[in-house]
Amino acid sequence: MKQQKLAAVVSAMAFSVATMGAARAQDKSVEVVHWWTSGGEAAALKVLKDDVVKRGFHWKDSAVAGGGGDQARTVLRARVAAGNPPDAMQMLGFTVNDYAEEGLLGNVDAVAAKEGWDKVVPAPLQKFSKQQGHWTAVPVNIHRTNWIWANKAIFDELKLTPPKTFDELVAMSGKIRKAGYIPLAHGGQSWQDATIFDSAVLSAGGPKFYKQALIDLDPKALGSKTMEKAFEQMLKLRGMVDTNFSGRDWNLATAMVYHKKAAMQIMGDWAKGEFEKGKMKANVDYLCFQYPGTEGSFLFNADQFGIFKVDAKQAAGQAVFASAVMDKSFQEKFNIVKGSIPARLDVAMDNFDDCGKKSMVDMKQALKDNTMLGSFAHGHAMPDAAKAAAVDVVTKFFNSGKSPADATKQLVAAIANSK
Ligand code: GAL
Repeated sequence: MKQQKLAAVVSAMAFSVATMGAARAQDKSVEVVHWWTSGGEAAALKVLKDDVVKRGFHWKDSAVAGGGGDQARTVLRARVAAGNPPDAMQMLGFTVNDYAEEGLLGNVDAVAAKEGWDKVVPAPLQKFSKQQGHWTAVPVNIHRTNWIWANKAIFDELKLTPPKTFDELVAMSGKIRKAGYIPLAHGGQSWQDATIFDSAVLSAGGPKFYKQALIDLDPKALGSKTMEKAFEQMLKLRGMVDTNFSGRDWNLATAMVYHKKAAMQIMGDWAKGEFEKGKMKANVDYLCFQYPGTEGSFLFNADQFGIFKVDAKQAAGQAVFASAVMDKSFQEKFNIVKGSIPARLDVAMDNFDDCGKKSMVDMKQALKDNTMLGSFAHGHAMPDAAKAAAVDVVTKFFNSGKSPADATKQLVAAIANSK
């Protein structure tokens, strides 16, 4: 199955390589590779595309389906190896570093200086956008991963309130199961398992521990009893899902909450984009709250567009694209639809819903408290090679349900071997 998927990806890739020449020949075009193909994601992408088209450019859409972007990153690698990168690619965290280190990225320094990006983009994002002082990537949003999305009708019916501790979450799940609902909607794909691990680690050990373990990669923290507790939480979460969770796409899991089949989903706020698309309203139809034990910390995942080195003619398109992405009113419109918050600190939040407003308030506080931390699952905590090795351990554990102590040891070894 995996191989079939890969074959499909490679043949799609060959197709886009073949059509590339034609697109490049067109004046004033911008080719962007991305993985925004769910209902909410596509709606948000349309806001961006319309904006670029309004500025007189042809939008060459290169979508590679697959939540979390694993497939898109594979396609990009192959295109780059074939000497055929797009103008820009959706990138997360350390992927920008990797391509920059390989000398493959250009920059949009002139636009950035003219528009004063240095002053408005939060520092933790700039760490990835700017490589050796150059703006090599353009941030379009700030997502947060330590959220839980809940069906309000189920919560009302069972008289539930957002859990304050992990034990409360476990107790609630029993009640939900008894009432005939699935406590946790989840899609068993490795990046989704990793997404819930983000929150489990933060909840088990707090922000300092999360940083020591998943960002500083301190072997003591990685191999600690606290890490075992994070795996124990994963084991309990595993008990809250339905029997058909394997391989399910994240947006189908969101749909289970939407359709009142499941009570909750632990997911980044791109899930909010799905609720929005389905006309469900925050605090009326669904609830948003932090995974218990993680309130006060902000695990971020910012989508950026990595800017590849291209010829001068294409670079003009890149500059227009970059300016469109950073435009204040665009960032407002786009992020309302996407479920995220703007990647700049000076956008008015009045038109965002309660969850969006909370996210911005929490992020500004986390910036002050030093608790705005990069998401492990989404490439903002550790280099991609280490991440891949760690995700493997997490997903194997989630599926086998074996000993948290063994998984902790395997995590230490996986990270050590990836260096
Ligand atoms: C994330 C990405 C989000 C969202 C999600 C699901 O990695 O940053 O924008 O699209 O994947 O596809």
